[in-house]
Amino acid sequence: MDRDYTCRVFLNSLFLMLQMQPSTSSDSAIESFIAQLQNICGTGSELESKYLGSTDQRRRSRAWSSLFMFMPWILQWSNLADFVDWLFVRLKSEILPATRHFVEWSLALVLVRCPEFRPLLWRHLKNFRGKAHITISLCTVSLFVTRKRYQEHQFLTDLCDSLTPWLTCNHFTVRAYAQWVLYTAWQLADRDVVKSTGLTAIAPLVNFLVENPECQRHREQFYLEYALSAFDVEEDLTIDYIFSGHGQLQGYTTDEIISSHAFGRVLLTAPIAIPLLNETRKTIYDLWQKKALQLPVQVDDPTSSNVVQRKGDVWSNHEVDFSIPFEKSQKVPRLPLILAASLLEKPENLGGLSRTCEIFGVETLVLHSMKVTTEAAFQSLAVTSHLHLPLLEVLRRNLPEFLTAKRREGYTIVGVEQAESSVALNHASIPERIILVLGNEKGGIPPNILTLCDMLIEIPQSGETRSLNVHVSGSLVMWEYIRQRLDTGNVREIA
Ligand SMILES: C[S@@+](CC[C@H](N)C(=O)[O-])C[C@H]1O[C@@H](n2cnc3c(N)ncnc32)[C@H](O)[C@@H]1O
Ligand SMILES: *[C@@H]1O[C@H](CO)[C@@H](O)[C@H](O)[C@H]1NC(C)=O
Repeated sequence: MDRDYTCRVFLNSLFLMLQMQPSTSSDSAIESFIAQLQNICGTGSELESKYLGSTDQRRRSRAWSSLFMFMPWILQWSNLADFVDWLFVRLKSEILPATRHFVEWSLALVLVRCPEFRPLLWRHLKNFRGKAHITISLCTVSLFVTRKRYQEHQFLTDLCDSLTPWLTCNHFTVRAYAQWVLYTAWQLADRDVVKSTGLTAIAPLVNFLVENPECQRHREQFYLEYALSAFDVEEDLTIDYIFSGHGQLQGYTTDEIISSHAFGRVLLTAPIAIPLLNETRKTIYDLWQKKALQLPVQVDDPTSSNVVQRKGDVWSNHEVDFSIPFEKSQKVPRLPLILAASLLEKPENLGGLSRTCEIFGVETLVLHSMKVTTEAAFQSLAVTSHLHLPLLEVLRRNLPEFLTAKRREGYTIVGVEQAESSVALNHASIPERIILVLGNEKGGIPPNILTLCDMLIEIPQSGETRSLNVHVSGSLVMWEYIRQRLDTGNVREIA
């Protein structure tokens, strides 16, 4: 742990200092570091970035903060145009709020400093067929730039031109964001600047936003989010915000957060490309962090009216276990079988399944929370199997969405349950690519997930006891899946 922390401080300090010695050799070193970091930031499909286990999220979040160490250099890079294109592509697939913030931030920095790239933003905003989450990010980028460039006539005119159509969007959150950006521009701009821009034309609309109580109520949610109400793309470009403030606002576990003092001790008085700290800014984001802590806990309700919450729910869920290597063992040939165990609760069952899955070479074991792997009860059954098996964290409430996404990738959803429509295991012909769903120890598989299953398998019983243990059930079905392939010689390596 300590070594991990020290390593991050030293490496990122090196990145900072590298830029202070302009030379062709440092430039090519920087370029190759940037390429590596871009690679890590960009790994994972849209689905994976949403669900992949926390280790991967941490890695990508770390890569983004390190990439920011090069930001002063990047802003003057001859390859800046390619980098900007890459950022727009990342907006499409960067799902995690924590890393998405870095994408929006970098784009806004470029657009604040280099007006020649702004037409790209307007062009993207005029794609009315774009996905909602992209439009929301484009609004956020516009907002960040607005805070710095509200006095510029051309900027305000283009902003109104591109954002006004979104005031009529049927998607509630998109509409709320567009309103918030235009409202902010209106509040910041001088009246005589307003008079000569597109803002005059939409004055009646803005008056509505100002006066209407519903709009006022929605605005309160924007004020609660630091990024949307107080964040400053230039002044917050400090080591302290990147490695500490941002993580605290996002609810990272404390071991992910690095204090700027640690950098201070390493860098001493060495000149660096990014300031360590801006005390004024720190006071402001600390204040927001305290505000966030005082807020009532969010209920798990996707229909809840909070539209602007930008915090992921993955970080605070669990502690890190750095004994889990980033790259899982590739020694075992993996079967196209995913075991979805998010509904299970008992660490003993999950530990046992981890061992069975690892031994059989299952593709991935899906858990509700990675935290369980740190429990003694889990480890006593798992032994060290979980260190060699790809684990994935999918919250119980996200399971239906995850299953349907996997079905689109070609997996058949197979529920293991005693149900009316279940096929007996001895009569079941199990498809090649499957995602096996096991039920909760008490409640089994809930109806909303049962109906999602393409096939249900039941293990014939004859004793008095009502049901089998869930680990045993899962293991029997997995063995039958393998047995059916042993016959065809498909999994000879395992035999
Ligand atoms: C202990 S059972 C759940 C309680 C069960 N619904 C009951 O009423 O007794 C937990 C899980 O084990 C699996 N299971 C247990 N017995 C099974 C059987 N005979 N066939 C298939 N799955 C079984 C299912 O996935 C089930 O959801
Ligand atoms: C620190 O932040 C304050 C408030 O945003 C700002 O006025 C000031 O210029 C910043 N200082 C530096 C050195 O950037």
